[in-house]
Amino acid sequence: MHPILTFRQTTSCAECHQQSVPRTFYTRITNPQRNGFLLAPLAMSAGGTEACGKTLFATTDDPDCQSILKTFEPVTEILKRQPRGDLGGTPVCELPRK
Ligand code: HEC
Repeated sequence: MHPILTFRQTTSCAECHQQSVPRTFYTRITNPQRNGFLLAPLAMSAGGTEACGKTLFATTDDPDCQSILKTFEPVTEILKRQPRGDLGGTPVCELPRK
């Protein structure tokens, strides 16, 4: 089963975010744990922002947090095979100095 289908094992974001969760226009695909949708529900003691006003993930070990992170595994795998220069995957090519 795709991990996203098992999301909300313990938490319902929709309890408070009825339309959708607030989001920036981009999603981080490198360092996915730094996306707002993972930081807002995460305790500050675990590196989160607690922007939800309530701690939903005490630590990143929370099963819902892990389920969301797992959805990034395929793209992480692709980036490993085909690194992108603009995402820090390859060294910048420098012209020889004279
Ligand atoms: C108890 C109510 C509540 C729950 C449950 C909740 N949130 Fe929030 N969340 C808030 C409030 C309040 C804010 C701040 C106001 C706003 O931005 O809408 C917020 C803000 C956010 C933001 C914006 C953060 C920022 O830095 O601007 C994101 C992203 C977010 N929540 C994601 C989630 C996700 C994902 C879940 C489920 C895992 C979740 N929230 C569950 C109440 C909640």
